Formats: sequence, C-alpha cells, structure tokens
Amino acid sequence: MGDRVKIVFNPMDKVVEVERGTILLDALREAGIAINSICGGDGECGTCKVILNKGEVSDTSSKYQKWLLPNEISEGYRLACQIKVQSDCEFTIPVGSRIISPKILVSAEISIDQIEPASQKYQATIIPAENCEQTSITLHGYSGPKPSISREVCSSLLSAEGPITATLGTIKTPPEIIRIEHDDRTASNYGLAIDVGTTTIVVLLVDLTSGKILNKASGLNGQITYGETLLTRIAFSRKAENGLRKLQQAVVESLNDIVDKLTSDAGIKNEDVTSVCVGGNTVMNHLLTGKDVDYLWYVDANDKVTRTPIIKKAKELGLHVNPEAYVYCLSNVSRFLGGDAVGDIIASGMYTSDDVSLLVDMGTNGEIVFGNKNWLVSCSVASGPAFEGGGIRFGMRAMQGGIEHVKIDPKTFKAEYSVIGNTRPRGICGSGIIDAVTEMFHVGLLDFAGKIIKSQKLPVREGRDGLEYVIVSADETAIERDIVISQRDIDYIMDSKAAILGGILVLMKKFQVSIYDIKNLYLAGAFGAYTDLKNATKLGIFPELPNAKVCPIGNGSVSGAYVTLLSKKKREEANAIAQSMLYIDLLADVMFAETYSQSIYIPGPKELFPNYYKQRTS
Ligand code: FES
Repeated sequence: MGDRVKIVFNPMDKVVEVERGTILLDALREAGIAINSICGGDGECGTCKVILNKGEVSDTSSKYQKWLLPNEISEGYRLACQIKVQSDCEFTIPVGSRIISPKILVSAEISIDQIEPASQKYQATIIPAENCEQTSITLHGYSGPKPSISREVCSSLLSAEGPITATLGTIKTPPEIIRIEHDDRTASNYGLAIDVGTTTIVVLLVDLTSGKILNKASGLNGQITYGETLLTRIAFSRKAENGLRKLQQAVVESLNDIVDKLTSDAGIKNEDVTSVCVGGNTVMNHLLTGKDVDYLWYVDANDKVTRTPIIKKAKELGLHVNPEAYVYCLSNVSRFLGGDAVGDIIASGMYTSDDVSLLVDMGTNGEIVFGNKNWLVSCSVASGPAFEGGGIRFGMRAMQGGIEHVKIDPKTFKAEYSVIGNTRPRGICGSGIIDAVTEMFHVGLLDFAGKIIKSQKLPVREGRDGLEYVIVSADETAIERDIVISQRDIDYIMDSKAAILGGILVLMKKFQVSIYDIKNLYLAGAFGAYTDLKNATKLGIFPELPNAKVCPIGNGSVSGAYVTLLSKKKREEANAIAQSMLYIDLLADVMFAETYSQSIYIPGPKELFPNYYKQRTS
C-alpha cells in the first residue's frame, strides 16, 4: 500500500485511493465524478480544470499553458488530464468543470397499432420426461415456430410442478424460451427502451402487455470522461489498456444505476424485465455490446458496418435485467449513422408518406435524411459539438446556469438573456450560442462571412481569441468573469453550420429536390426542442423551407427503441429502412467541398434563401 495515495475531491467530499503517479483524470473517473473532458484527456480542450488545494503533483506536459491564465496557475488551477498525483492530495472541482443536472430530452411517445413485443409470457403445460429432449411444453395461445430451450431453462422445466409461465423471446429465429416461472406470472412482463447517446442516456420502463410507459429516467453516459466525441471514444478504445472494456463498463454502470432506480420505484423485480431495445449511434451500439470499434476509426469503414441489428443476451453485458433477456440494438447504417437515426426515421413516420421530408438530428455528429415512402437517402456531417456548447470558450451543455436565449438591442448593443434554472449564468449553451451569433449578425456586429466588425462605434474588444463581444459582464455571472463570444468561437460555429447546410445541399442537388418540394422538416433531439428555429434559419443552419411544416419529434432514438420493443412490424420496418437507405459518404464526395464553401456565409447560397435575398435587395 506504500505506493498508494489518497485523493480528496471537494465539494463532493469524495475520496479515492490510487497508485502514486496516476493521472488525475483517471482518479476522477475512478471516483465516478463527471467532469468536462471534451478531448478525452489529450490536453487539447482545456475543459478539465481543477484546483489543487493540497499535495504534490507533476505535469505530464506543458499543454496547460495554452489553457490556463497566469493568475489561474498561481491560484492552483491545473488540467486534470495533464497532471500526475505524487502524494496525498486535495482538489476542488470548480463549478465550470462539473457536469451537473443536464437538461435531457426524455419525451418521446408515439402510438402503435398492434402490440407484439419482443418477449411474451405464456401460461404453459409440460409433459415431463427423463431428459430435456423428451420433455414437451405447450404454450397456451402461441402458434409460431417451435421454440428452442437452453440447457439452463430446461433444468428448471424438469423441476417444475403445477401451473407454470414461460417467457418466450422472439427476437431471434427460432424463438427461445428464456425463463420458466411457477404460477401464473403472465401479467408481470416488462421491457426497456433505451437511447444510449454519446453524452446522455434515456430509459423508458415499459409494460409489455399494455404497451404503457410506466416510468422514465435519464442520466449521463459514464463514458463522458473518456472524451465527448465519437472519435475520442474510439481513440480511447484503441490506445488504452482494456479501453473497450472500460468504456463498456462505464456505459453499463450508468445504465444499471438508472434501471435499478426505475424498477425499484415501480416495485418491479429486475428479472421481470425480459426485453431491451436500444437506439444508439453506431459507436455506442458497438461499445455497449462490447463489439470492437477499431475498424470504425478508418474512413473506409462504412461498407464494413453490418446493417443488421446487434443482438446480445443481457448476461453478456452485465445489465441488471433478466440475464436471458435479449438486448436488441436498432440496425446501424454506416460509421456515423446508426440505430439512433433509424429510430428517428421510424418516429417521424417520413418513410410512410408520399411527401418529401427532411429529417435532421443535430448533435456532435449531425444526421441528415431526405425522402418519402419510395426512397430514403442520408448522410452524416461532423458538425462538431459547437451546438451543444462544446469547443466554445464559455460554451456549456444545456444545464443549470447555461444561457439559453439571447437578444441584442440594435441601438445599445446590450444583450438580454435567459438562463436555465433562472440562476446567474455560468456559460452559454447551444441554443444561446445560435441566438447570440444570429443577433450579432442582425444588429451589425458581424459581417456575412462571420467576422466581428472592428469599429469604435461597436462594443467589441480585442481578447485572447481575437475580437470578442461581451454577453454578460463579470459582475452578473456565477463565474466572476465576463462571458464573451469570441471570433474563434464564431469561426467554429460557422464551420459547424456550413457542414450541416453543405450536407443538406449535397443531398438536395444529387436528388434534385428544391426547397419548395420539402413538405416536412423533422427535427430530432434537443436541438429541435429548445432552439429558436427562426434564428437557426436566419443563421443558415437550415434552408428556408416555404412549404414545410416544422415538426420537432423529441427524442427519436428512444421513440424508435420503444416502438421496436413493442412491435414486430416496426422491427421489420426498421430493418428494411437500414438495409435499403442510401448513404452518401460526404468525406468521399467532391460535391461536398463545393456546397460547404457555398454555406460558409450567413445565411448561405441564394437558391436556399430566396426570401432573405429578396428582402435585402428590396
Ligand atoms: S484538456 Fe483535459 S480533457 Fe481536454
């Protein structure tokens, strides 16, 4: 034990013992403390700031100089990923580094015509025999193919007496009897619909008999301290010892915490959860099920992604449900377009309509789908985490203390703002950033190329990252520093918005769709729920769509998981979508370079913004 040191984290008062020389970020992970770490520990984002109160540490690099101001260093600020602990230490995790109370979109209920869940319970009669092979079982009310029976289940069958209940898992062919219970327990059959996101997890507890959602809960994906983007997770899996296993454990532990809470609140036994459906992106589906993600690192991986559902038993993952329950991940389509996008399509219903629709799910990775009941085409864009507050100096997730809306007075240039939780602001979240940049353009602080205009008449100043505009002055914030939007932040936003609009334009050009043809704009996820869509169009994230109805669909991934949990028909439809949808790889598409450069202006090319250009010239 001589080589171990004790680390205390305040204000959460958590203590861990780790090997001397451990990187502090690893100690934080061990302590289960969710700290910002966008780059996954490479010293490239500056978000993992901690304050050293006591003890000795050593630097692993000089990268901290890029992110910490001299006065911060003298106050004890360090980057958790760039120091090793050399003695017993005490740290404070500053408010700005903590991940707390995320605003997670849980809503997502859509109706289905017929309930045919992925597992069903039947009253059963057995005619026992000496051994399994000769024992016969009749499931009352069941008329499908002969089910298989595992050795474990078979032994419980041989000892069964009186009325019994058999649980039939129908995800695989042939169906399988996964559990035998005494008495009539046909009414106690539950399932989980799960959205495993890169940042957050949402779980619905569903009564598989009635289809009713009994409860829902959400939390952070414990993988978050291993980096915020899909590529940082893949990189961790590739380079760290047992990286894949650590990432799998992190997400399974997060899920188990949520599942245990849901079942105990509902008074349900975890063994009665007999089926699980997951709508995750391709990387999350792989990491959850322990499937190697190494090949997803390479740009040519799209063709290697199997467009069929990944199916595992819960016991293989360590999920706190019936160990024999099947975990079914909606089919992935490509490297960065996964089961979550298929869930969005199912939830929107766009694949059943004659009308052409556009679906956009904006996250760190943006997914774009066009089509109707006859055709579907998709692409994904590396829009980056800017619209979720990532990579922006004062950016933060949509959680307490985040500025969510901004309006700038065109005469005084003073910003009015609203804050999540009505507290003093700590930073600015995605919807606030879109508002701020759009408003800056419309009051004349920004030119059409997204450059802050330098003029003595305008309240802009030279800052660390180029010119900057103060949204909130230090005396009004919770962090006692001015919250600003800098030129560097705006460049990042412009890059993200050009990637999305450029991606939309590629699909429109290739499939000869005009803005007038699109009848529905489906917006999945938090972006559609919380963002001022008028501002998103003014900024040029989306084109003007004069004939389209805007339909936020909430959390489409969990909706997709919910309907596929309950409906065999929807499972088949989801598979058909994944297999038939065309995917355009923008990285390999020459047209994208052209549409991207047409979209790097506010709002964008004339063909997509006729109304804006008409008003400007009139
Ligand atoms: S700088 Fe530490 S996680 Fe990015």
